[in-house]
Amino acid sequence: MNYATRPACARVVLRWTNSCATQMRVDRLLSNLPRFNRKQVRLLLVERRVSVDGVAVSDPHHDVREFSRVCVDDEVVQTGKPARYFMLHKPRGCVSATADPQHPTVLDLLDEPDKHQLHIAGRLDFNTTGLLLITNDGQWSRRLTQPTTKLPKVYRVETEQVIGDEYAATFKAGLYFAFEDLTTQPAELELLGPKTARLSIIEGRYHQVKRMFGHFDNKVLALHRERMGPLELDSALAPGEYRALHPQEIQQV
Ligand code: URA
Repeated sequence: MNYATRPACARVVLRWTNSCATQMRVDRLLSNLPRFNRKQVRLLLVERRVSVDGVAVSDPHHDVREFSRVCVDDEVVQTGKPARYFMLHKPRGCVSATADPQHPTVLDLLDEPDKHQLHIAGRLDFNTTGLLLITNDGQWSRRLTQPTTKLPKVYRVETEQVIGDEYAATFKAGLYFAFEDLTTQPAELELLGPKTARLSIIEGRYHQVKRMFGHFDNKVLALHRERMGPLELDSALAPGEYRALHPQEIQQV
């Protein structure tokens, strides 16, 4: 096929205009380019001239991500945006938001370019400390945070009152949250001391841990996230410090 019959465009910029769109069918992505019509795209795929991340694809439904490198023959039509993943030891007194008019945000702690492209995978409250994951990969962060994937979020909790023996069974059975009209998924409580425990939950409802202890009128005095799914807070990171995730850590999620 001679696709040069269509106006050549020197450097193609593929638009991922909808920030929620994290993937697109390969045929749609190619037909969005000014140089290919739909018929030409079908033929390119049949002739196995299209590759995504180095692998030839012929299925028009094949999903392409903004991070994928897409080539037609030897020509790169999408370079693929670099995917970025960071682990931060969140200190007390900063907001898990990308911008805040009053308080420092967790993004202020990152010395990285294009910070506006990053988002937080599972926020923590202002005074909660511990593991915070920050990325530009929406699919990855959804896998970590969606209750359907059942990845545990593990917190160390310190409370005002003694933690009763009955808490564990109540948390395991689930608590009704009237505001959301739902019952929380089974959570596991391990007592570490009279007023200290490790709690593992698989959701991240608003103030979830505080509300669970609030059911027993027991105020949470300190809350620290130790782990999210397979990822544990690096003990070498002091509060306020961060590092890029290692490739194996990214793949574990
Ligand atoms: N649950 C809470 O109540 N606060 C957090 O920051 C995280 C979980």
